[in-house]
Amino acid sequence: MDSRPSLGSLFILLGLISLLVKCYSSSEDNMKTYIVYTGKIINDEASSLIIYQNMLNQVAESNSTSKSVLYHYKRSFSGFAAKLTVEEARRMAGLDGVVSVFPNEKRQLLTTRSWDFIGFPEYVEREYNEYDVIIGVIDSGIWPESESFDDKGYGPPPSKWKGICQSSDFTCNNKIIGARYYRNDYGEDFLKNNILSPRDTTGHGTHTASTAAGNPVSRTSMLGLGHGTTRGGASSARIAVYKVCWSDECQDVDILAAFDDAVIDGVDILSVSIGGKSDDSIHFMDAFSVGSFHAMKKGILTVLAAGNFGPKSSSLTNFSPWAISVAASTMDRKFVTKVKLGDNKIYEGTSLNTFDLQGELWPIIYAGDAPNKEAGFDKDSSRNCSANSLDIKLVKGKILLCEDRIGPSEAYRVGAVGVLVQGQKSLDTANSFPLPGCYLHSKDAAKVHKYIKSRRNPVATIFKTYESNDTLAPMAASFSSRGPNNATPEILKPDLTAPGVDILASWSPMSPISQFHGEKRKLEFNIVSGTSMSCPHVSGAAAYIKSFYPTWSPAAIRSALMTTAKQMSPEKNHDAEFAYGAGQVDPMKALNPGLVYDADEEEYIRFLCGQGLDMSMLLQITESIINCSERGYMIPRDLNYPSFAFKVQRPKHHLNASSKRTVTNVGLAMSTYRAFVTAPKGFNISVTPDLLSFTSLGEKQTFILTINGKMKKSIGSASLIWDNGKFQVRSPIVVFDERAVNGASLYRINYLYIVIFNLLFYITIIG
Ligand SMILES: *[C@@H]1O[C@H](CO)[C@@H](O)[C@H](O)[C@H]1NC(C)=O
Ligand SMILES: *[C@@H]1O[C@H](CO)[C@@H](O)[C@H](O)[C@H]1NC(C)=O
Ligand SMILES: *[C@@H]1O[C@H](CO)[C@@H](O)[C@H](O)[C@H]1NC(C)=O
Ligand SMILES: *[C@@H]1O[C@H](CO)[C@@H](O)[C@H](O)[C@H]1NC(C)=O
Ligand SMILES: *[C@@H]1O[C@H](CO)[C@@H](O)[C@H](O)[C@H]1NC(C)=O
Ligand SMILES: *[C@@H]1O[C@H](CO)[C@@H](O)[C@H](O)[C@H]1NC(C)=O
Repeated sequence: MDSRPSLGSLFILLGLISLLVKCYSSSEDNMKTYIVYTGKIINDEASSLIIYQNMLNQVAESNSTSKSVLYHYKRSFSGFAAKLTVEEARRMAGLDGVVSVFPNEKRQLLTTRSWDFIGFPEYVEREYNEYDVIIGVIDSGIWPESESFDDKGYGPPPSKWKGICQSSDFTCNNKIIGARYYRNDYGEDFLKNNILSPRDTTGHGTHTASTAAGNPVSRTSMLGLGHGTTRGGASSARIAVYKVCWSDECQDVDILAAFDDAVIDGVDILSVSIGGKSDDSIHFMDAFSVGSFHAMKKGILTVLAAGNFGPKSSSLTNFSPWAISVAASTMDRKFVTKVKLGDNKIYEGTSLNTFDLQGELWPIIYAGDAPNKEAGFDKDSSRNCSANSLDIKLVKGKILLCEDRIGPSEAYRVGAVGVLVQGQKSLDTANSFPLPGCYLHSKDAAKVHKYIKSRRNPVATIFKTYESNDTLAPMAASFSSRGPNNATPEILKPDLTAPGVDILASWSPMSPISQFHGEKRKLEFNIVSGTSMSCPHVSGAAAYIKSFYPTWSPAAIRSALMTTAKQMSPEKNHDAEFAYGAGQVDPMKALNPGLVYDADEEEYIRFLCGQGLDMSMLLQITESIINCSERGYMIPRDLNYPSFAFKVQRPKHHLNASSKRTVTNVGLAMSTYRAFVTAPKGFNISVTPDLLSFTSLGEKQTFILTINGKMKKSIGSASLIWDNGKFQVRSPIVVFDERAVNGASLYRINYLYIVIFNLLFYITIIG
């Protein structure tokens, strides 16, 4: 017998092996979506697609699934997105004409008193031009039927508008003049929770768009709370919708595609309430930095949410120096929910409780005393009211005391009458629960627990929420991300702050008002919190400024907003300027800044050269071939920014540094400004020259600010004010050492509550 396999069977065997290898290894699991930047090499679309397909064929591993271009970036950047293996991505990066290849990252999404609180009444002087200003909102889409977006009284879109309405389930109107959506790929379940349309099924995008540019809608409230008129900052501006966030996530490839379109469509301001993780890229090469750079080149200001990762230091997610990063702060309205025990003691909690127990006392039980033993829970593991941890028989019909924020979902499952959640120290946001309830300060929760233990039949009731005056406002919100930023600590970020706590605005009635299980209430208006909510306040303010000064650069608009912002107290706000930047936005004052700190593309390129970026990184961000030795290298301290930040290397180290700035006269043709400067303890600050005389509008003058001394505490706050008797042009100055960076944050232990709330609330779509 011949023991050798026949040639035929060998082939079959080889075929089987290769088939197995194919089935096994070409699984989609090894593939990731990458963005491939090609720089400006190709012009016409058909030929560039052929070239891209060729590149994909060249790098494809033999066992890989066939490759195709998922996205073709062609309008303001050049490049494409495709699914590649790690090896293919490596090969791709080595091809001629490829600038860089980077993996797609997933991002997160980050309300009527607010405008009045910042001194911007409904009937302000408005430019007729405001109808010509278009705010692009990159978010989770929009609820077009909302009254906030009614187009009564609006003429046709401005002639510069080149966008489209990519919707099958609604038509755009003269208020929402464009709408697109982006999603490069999705699984089977995706369509169960999403509609392939710019329609917003989550509420987030509707909320942000209405805050930036919604029409005034009177007599709105969330089931009676926050009653008043809701309105956008630029209430007659147009809205262009770019939906990139879905029920699960927002992705870089989609965000980049949205920027690519928006810039060419003709938007004036971009409002982006989305963020990544705080430890993301420090090279300005994420979708937000690249997208906003291109926008800046075209004269479009991008307004970004700073992030919801505070109060931890260095927790910013967005800090590109060509965009604005907006922190969140409180306003003078807070929501208070009272709890009364059988002993007549009353505690004040926080929530948006619209359910009425009518003062009736119900039995109250501590979650630790009601473990679901059948499911393996005991006293310790049921305290937090995690999923399935409680015994229905013991809790049903009672008020429940939980030790964790996730409690309301489980409380609803087991049929509790109400829920009290032990909060941490920071109770600065009010949440909706699917049943009567509130957060209690941990020391109050401890007293409630003590009362429960001390009685045979403990009882309690929870009252409806009422509004009260928060006289401490504005304060930086605990969840708002703090600087200094990790990439360029000597550029102060966030830039400024705006109301972002308990904001009432339009909502998608397809989405429940809270993310807790059992929440069934679907409303057209909702109260939520986050830098996602503060960001569109600044977008609206920026659009307002733009309507008066259509030719101002993004940097000039930002400067006007920053130098006129309402000063906040470094003593009362932990992390001082790193929490609130230049202060709280004041749109009316920003109309008359007097002087502006302007900056153009060239300025940012020299800054990027100074950051040591190599040619390919520069090409990726700027889309131009940059020779840094010709352009020059700028240190961050000298970037023409409306704020100053100085880092002291070691706490005991003597700082002797200076910053150069140029101001442009936009106030009165003939005027003289004098410098008034304060210095933090331990420092001297001087300005030369300290007198600037202007004889015409648009005239520029340069000065040097010099600082000398030693740190007394980890953050020192001061300011420079140029004053001509009519305008005060204020720049914050902050000096800090590594203690401020490493975050000896007093609030750190208290920080989870807000963050998890945000995860619950906003990640699912953002926040
Ligand atoms: C293709 O095969 C190689 C070698 O067996 C393996 O390293 C690679 O991961 C495979 N590629 C895919 C897409 O599975
Ligand atoms: C309960 O919640 C606290 C605070 O969030 C957490 O530290 C603890 O680990 C949780 N305990 C259990 C058993 O999940
Ligand atoms: C809250 O109190 C301050 C100071 O007393 C007052 O100026 C403000 O108008 C009050 N706000 C509301 C909403 O009543
Ligand atoms: C950059 O410019 C310098 C000065 O003009 C020149 O010497 C150098 O060759 C240029 N570098 C590149 C890579 O073009
Ligand atoms: C600061 O540095 C400058 C130049 O490096 C020097 O002329 C000046 O004397 C220094 N000032 C102090 C107080 O050290
Ligand atoms: C600040 O300047 C004054 C007067 O020139 C000088 O006496 C003092 O030592 C300086 N302080 C610091 C911290 O450099």
